[in-house]
Amino acid sequence: MKKRLPPTPTQQEVSLSDDEFIVSKTDGEGKITYINRVFMQTSGYTEAELLDQNHRMIRHPDMPHGLFQHMWNTLKNGNEFIGFVKNLCKNGGHYWVFAHVTPDHDAQGSFRGYYSVRRKPEKNAITTIAHLYDAMNQVEQNNGGRSAASASAQHMLEYIADKELSYDEFILQLDSH
Ligand SMILES: Cc1cc2nc3c(=O)[nH]c(=O)nc-3n(C[C@H](O)[C@H](O)[C@H](O)COP(=O)(O)O)c2cc1C
Repeated sequence: MKKRLPPTPTQQEVSLSDDEFIVSKTDGEGKITYINRVFMQTSGYTEAELLDQNHRMIRHPDMPHGLFQHMWNTLKNGNEFIGFVKNLCKNGGHYWVFAHVTPDHDAQGSFRGYYSVRRKPEKNAITTIAHLYDAMNQVEQNNGGRSAASASAQHMLEYIADKELSYDEFILQLDSH
């Protein structure tokens, strides 16, 4: 299949309404197996375009790789991840979400993939987090290569540790203002 070029970002923002939730499920490798209607409406992609793809298809270039490295480390350790994510729409616009991602198990407790629910974030949180992500992107540019994501994830965790907070505490505190 021909590889599609990612859309060019327009910095045009689309906002979720207070009662909308974007839901998706993936297999163990992160390949999308389910999306709800709000996911399609917000991103502008059809079900056929999204199923079997990795969520990286909607990754916005302003998002640091280090954040996703931290997300995957958290999930691989069997823990739930929360965080603020800027996603890219098919038309180049974007939408910010407060995301909750969790490993998904069947009734017998066997791992079967991942599950994510996202809602509209607190507006004030975005200013702070976008600042932190800019700094992480700068760290990635300065490092380059394989160590870039680890270096920016470390930058984020040190920035948060300086506030004497855990990552989750920092995120929840930002979202509560
Ligand atoms: C359940 C689940 C939901 C995800 N949701 C998003 C998302 O909304 N946006 C995004 O850019 N990446 C999301 N990811 C992470 C992507 O799989 C990918 O790691 C990320 O886009 C960064 O790409 P990279 O791993 O090449 O750095 C999700 C992963 C999982 C398992």
